[in-house]
Amino acid sequence: MTDTKSSWDRYWAKGSASALPLSDDEQRQLGQFWQAQLLQNTPKTMTSAVELAAGAGDLTTQLMLFFGQYRPAPVLHALDSSAQALQQLQVRFERIKPLQCDLTAVPLTDHSQQLVVSQFGIEYGGAAGFNEAGRLVAADGVILLLVHHTDSEIFQQCARNNRMIRSMHDDQFFTKVGHWYRLAQPDAAVSQSDIITARTTLMHALQQAQQLLQQTGLVSLQIRQFYQDCAEIAAKVHLYQLQELLDWLQRMQAELLDSQRRGDAMQQVAMNYQQLDALCRAQWQPRQLKHRIEPFELAGKTLGWFVTARKKPA
Ligand SMILES: C[S@@+](CC[C@H](N)C(=O)[O-])C[C@H]1O[C@@H](n2cnc3c(N)ncnc32)[C@H](O)[C@@H]1O
Repeated sequence: MTDTKSSWDRYWAKGSASALPLSDDEQRQLGQFWQAQLLQNTPKTMTSAVELAAGAGDLTTQLMLFFGQYRPAPVLHALDSSAQALQQLQVRFERIKPLQCDLTAVPLTDHSQQLVVSQFGIEYGGAAGFNEAGRLVAADGVILLLVHHTDSEIFQQCARNNRMIRSMHDDQFFTKVGHWYRLAQPDAAVSQSDIITARTTLMHALQQAQQLLQQTGLVSLQIRQFYQDCAEIAAKVHLYQLQELLDWLQRMQAELLDSQRRGDAMQQVAMNYQQLDALCRAQWQPRQLKHRIEPFELAGKTLGWFVTARKKPA
């Protein structure tokens, strides 16, 4: 598994419910958007559907809701490279058929799916992912995709998060925090001046972080909470066991590094209109598929591109 894929696996293993930095109200609006698009675009009789890179099921929830109106309900294959994501999906939706595989090599037959759908997933497979979507879609079927946009709110938030995480590494923030935890132990055999230096160094690093947070703008709750926890623990370090603190710090460092990896990957796969259009043309025109790309906005913010594709009328 690549670094990014195992990072997703660890993310879903924590039981994270969503991959998107959206408020409850925005999530509700996103759900309404999908219901409207599914109603407008899917065939009246539908027996088969596949969701590419389903994660822990934000979109799967909407699909299952929509499929409730079909008798019998379509079979939904939900695929992802992460075993952890699929385990959670199966607990939530007994009826789905999970497929742990790469979205660029899906073990389903050509033209077998009346709905091929993905929310911020297909682009992780690049051109090969778009090619698979074109191969899988049935003659009467449709491809519906929400794809990362190079100028979206999600993209910008990722860039801000990564700026903060990078600065933590560059400033050796984790080392400074750990150093203070060790020296501040009541039984640590260190001089008073070493303690003062370690404390001053940490306070300075926290102040710098605060300034950078103000300049950078809104970053993830995880990052803000981490700085806040560091500041609070630094003040009452004697209340905790040293090993407990060091384990927590190591866990946070690994999680933030993972989040940076996922953010970098997201920024690499995001596309502007020209890139996305060229990709759709190259992969789908030879298969006689006609596509349409629209910006997708939520609460006045650009969230991604919405792509629909289906067979050209003969
Ligand atoms: C941004 S998350 C989106 C998850 C979900 N669609 C959602 O909207 O919450 C990207 C997902 O793509 C999966 N993924 C990344 N690369 C993949 C690949 N090459 N094949 C299959 N799944 C992949 C990850 O495991 C992760 O669950």
